[in-house]
Amino acid sequence: MAVKTLDDLLGEGVSGRRVLVRADLNVPFDGEKITDDGRVRAALPTVRALTEAGARVIVTAHLGRPKGAPDPAYSLRPVATRLGELLGTEVRFAGDVVGEQAKTAVSSLSDGDVVLLENVRFDPRETSKSESERAQLARELAELTGENGAFVSDGFGVVHRKQASVYDVARVLPAYAGGLVLAELDVLKTLTGDPQRPYAVVLGGSKVSDKLAVIEALLPKVDRLLVGGGMCFTFLAAQGHGVGSSLLETDMVDTCKRLLADAGDKLVLPTDVVVADAFSADAATRTVSVTGIEDGWMGLDVGPETAAAFGAIVRDARTLFWNGPMGVFEMAPFAEGTRAVATAIADSEAFSVVGGGDSAAAVRQLGLPEDGFSHISTGGGASLEYLEGKDLPGVAVLSEEQ
Ligand code: 3PG
Repeated sequence: MAVKTLDDLLGEGVSGRRVLVRADLNVPFDGEKITDDGRVRAALPTVRALTEAGARVIVTAHLGRPKGAPDPAYSLRPVATRLGELLGTEVRFAGDVVGEQAKTAVSSLSDGDVVLLENVRFDPRETSKSESERAQLARELAELTGENGAFVSDGFGVVHRKQASVYDVARVLPAYAGGLVLAELDVLKTLTGDPQRPYAVVLGGSKVSDKLAVIEALLPKVDRLLVGGGMCFTFLAAQGHGVGSSLLETDMVDTCKRLLADAGDKLVLPTDVVVADAFSADAATRTVSVTGIEDGWMGLDVGPETAAAFGAIVRDARTLFWNGPMGVFEMAPFAEGTRAVATAIADSEAFSVVGGGDSAAAVRQLGLPEDGFSHISTGGGASLEYLEGKDLPGVAVLSEEQ
């Protein structure tokens, strides 16, 4: 069945109808404020299109990974405020997911109003393995829309999760793909189809175990795969280097050895790194060759020689995908590797896609020109799973016969 879209829903007419929107508002916080509101901005077009058409919009979203119970540290309340500022209209906030506050808030909505429900992961049924528990929460979310309700799936960053507000709810309400989900899928199709060559992928981030599947899936398809970030140390250990107290996943060393052997010179690792004597912005630091990481020192960024080598490969590429920072870019002494590689990507003429929450946040926090990239995805895990060739449950469900 063809996927129905937000435009189809608008064509049906939404005035006076309550529409549930799943957005991905999982933004980074520094404990006090949102440090990057990119995902909130990305949610605006769909919410606006609905409010302008007179819908009563109920937004559901998650923040972080709370343990299935209310936890003030993960409240979406500050996000409701930010969403309201960006929309230029008040966004109400319901202090629970589907409880009394949510019911009261949705019943008082007028045409064009918006309410954001509290973090849907405060309800353990959201992420439950039990289909029936998830289905029950999905029904309660659907009930909030009342007669003639509809569901718009617009949280691209979470479509790889088989969760109640992403997947199950699309089976109990008429479901439509939002503009963000459609736009993201369109771009990713270009990468899996017939990308212009050379096609280079830059991967970073902390855990190699999170990225193994995508590395395996991408190696046969790409011309170059550059690995930086915390995950490079497990590869460096697989090459026989000492990595001091850098991040190391010992149980992945053998897999990395195999990947290195299979990949040949496609897989490019750092040759120098910035090491520190503590995980702190004011630690002592040095730049050393990857052959000279001493005990007691941890690698927190790629070094300038690596940044230059990665930059040269990036400049030659005609298609680029980047996921994961090259170092701990949130701390100034360890931001230069990410800045250099991201700048090379932004300067290149290639079709360039930034995949992921962290890398997208790095672009903005380092003040790089967003328009230097062909596309900045809101989905990290989701875009990686798409590139791995996995089914995205939140997308697949939209083409199911209801
Ligand atoms: C993300 O940050 O990638 C999405 O919001 C999904 O979050 P999750 O990995 O906690 O499911």
